[in-house]
Amino acid sequence: IPHQQFAARLVAWQRVHGRHDLPWQRTRDPYRIWLSEIMLQQTQVTTVIPYYARFLERFPDVAALAAADEDAVLALWAGLGYYSRARNLHRLAKEVVANHGGVFPSDAAALAMLPGIGRSTAAAIASFAFGARETILDGNVKRVLARAYGIEGFPGEKRVETQLWALAESLLPGEGDPAMGAYTQGLMDLGATLCVRGTPACVRCPFADDCVAHLTGRERALPTPRPK
Ligand code: ADE
Repeated sequence: IPHQQFAARLVAWQRVHGRHDLPWQRTRDPYRIWLSEIMLQQTQVTTVIPYYARFLERFPDVAALAAADEDAVLALWAGLGYYSRARNLHRLAKEVVANHGGVFPSDAAALAMLPGIGRSTAAAIASFAFGARETILDGNVKRVLARAYGIEGFPGEKRVETQLWALAESLLPGEGDPAMGAYTQGLMDLGATLCVRGTPACVRCPFADDCVAHLTGRERALPTPRPK
């Protein structure tokens, strides 16, 4: 896939076949986007939806969350698991209020310094909320890129991960492209709905014609599994 074509093809696919109606889409409020990304880190969309609604009803903005008792935050999180996420959520809200005047930082590097926000989550928030030109690289995206470009090696290995970050950056839309959010969502949607683990739905994939894994029949072999 020519690098300069990747973004346009992904965005065109996302606009027709991607997800558009999730509760955290159609907002650019960084608080709402951040909350969704943290909940979605280790939890499926269908599980997150009711928790997300209840959480926002109780804590509609970062000031309300910062003012809460930790017990109240944890109670709303009960059942979602990975409770360090809830503690970090509360810490972050207090920090944004105390050190950033209650306003989320608008660039990925500053977001990544806040509790519970790693490099990929920071990029997701910056691209969705601010249209920033930043790439995500979660497990789904690693799978998409390893297959499309035939990247060999276990993606949990530092050398391979570094290569994937560089590849992901080289595929971004151009500076100022208004489709930045659609691009990020497209990467997530392609990985979650077509380019799934096991047997991907290549017949519906916009990249099948020049996907290295597909052309070589190695969809199931890429990404390379963890070495035993
Ligand atoms: N998983 C992580 N972020 C997501 C998002 N914005 N939409 C759907 N699934 C996601």
